[in-house]
Amino acid sequence: MTHTSIHQRQGLPEEMQILLRDYPRDAWPDNPHFARSIQNWMGAHEMFRRLGDINRKECENYLDDKRSAHEFAARLSHYGGLLVQNLHGHHTWEDRDFFPELSRADSRFDQGLETLESDHVELNKVLELFTSSANRVIKLAQLDENLVRDEVGQLHDCTEEIKKFLARHLRDEEDLVVPIIIHHKLRG
Ligand SMILES: [Fe+2]
Ligand SMILES: [Fe+2]
Repeated sequence: MTHTSIHQRQGLPEEMQILLRDYPRDAWPDNPHFARSIQNWMGAHEMFRRLGDINRKECENYLDDKRSAHEFAARLSHYGGLLVQNLHGHHTWEDRDFFPELSRADSRFDQGLETLESDHVELNKVLELFTSSANRVIKLAQLDENLVRDEVGQLHDCTEEIKKFLARHLRDEEDLVVPIIIHHKLRG
């Protein structure tokens, strides 16, 4: 049985790769139907990967004594907020507008779109853990700096999890979506 859960999946299920075989990733940039708006959408994915890395690295910088608790809390508030808010907006738009548009264009991939929607639900759970842990760190940095370090270990685990989730989700999402866009000349 093919695993579709983001926790076990190794890539898009075979049956969801029909168009990806015709339009492999390497050939996207030269395809005239690789629309500008889709390149921008992939640019947002790249920003999420970077923000995920920044938050993870900031935890490590603090744990390696390269930042004070106050500096760390300020950076976490900024970059953590950017990651969570932007991802939330992005997922909401995909679930409500973008995936239905793709389904109308080609319903053969509905199962893949459902998998991606389930990913969003799972990602949200990790983002909620990240948010509550980050909020505790920010509060502790004001109240008792000595307690910050214990909390950051857990926060760092969350950022590792987010990185793993994003790597799998964004890759599979692009592999499913971009060939549909190109094949059906959407948004050209
Ligand atoms: Fe997504
Ligand atoms: Fe996305």
